[in-house]
Amino acid sequence: MALTLMKLILFSFLVSSTVLTAKSELLTSKREKLTRFRVYMQEKFAGSNATDITVAQASTTNQSATSFGLVRVFDDALTVGPEKSSKKVGAVQGMFACASQSEFALSMSMTFTFTAGKYNGSTLTVVGSNLLSLKVREMPIVGGTGLFRLARGYVRTSTYSSDLKNELFVLAYDFYVYHY
Ligand SMILES: *[C@@H]1O[C@H](CO)[C@@H](O)[C@H](O)[C@H]1NC(C)=O
Ligand SMILES: *[C@@H]1O[C@H](CO)[C@@H](O)[C@H](O)[C@H]1NC(C)=O
Ligand SMILES: *[C@@H]1O[C@H](CO)[C@@H](O)[C@H](O)[C@H]1NC(C)=O
Repeated sequence: MALTLMKLILFSFLVSSTVLTAKSELLTSKREKLTRFRVYMQEKFAGSNATDITVAQASTTNQSATSFGLVRVFDDALTVGPEKSSKKVGAVQGMFACASQSEFALSMSMTFTFTAGKYNGSTLTVVGSNLLSLKVREMPIVGGTGLFRLARGYVRTSTYSSDLKNELFVLAYDFYVYHY
């Protein structure tokens, strides 16, 4: 009995000292740096190959001038340049709700996953309010994985082009991200 207790105490000491070592290594061996980059988001908002789809809406959404209550999910390609044929570097997956009764504002949650280039395998998560009446919208970066562990920062997004005939939007996303 006493031996088991001793083992438990020893074990928890070993675990906590490992955690402490890992923490101090992180704080002393790496310095936070600022990374800035732009990607383009290719969105097809309707049609058979839509990358942004409605999943739910309230019974009153159609009567709302701001689509209050609409919920959509998206999985859009990320490219280096604005053209659809431009090199693909990842995808952004997430959802938004039209969450304002007075203006066209999206409450968004999305993760940018990079699958090429120097950020391959890393992700950045953005959560915030996207007020569509503004030419440039700003949202917080709340975290990341891989190269972007402990990330914080913000994104600025604007509509690069809209092609209503082909149901395509291209959005520019400028990242300003602090990470280790
Ligand atoms: C949908 O995507 C497939 C595969 O990329 C493509 O072959 C097809 O032409 C697309 N259809 C439409 C309607 O865009
Ligand atoms: C709202 O409008 C859409 C698109 O016109 C339609 O498909 C849907 O049935 C309408 N929903 C309600 C609850 O009226
Ligand atoms: C991205 O990383 C994965 C996993 O390491 C690898 O299989 C893949 O080839 C890489 N892609 C590019 C374009 O470098």
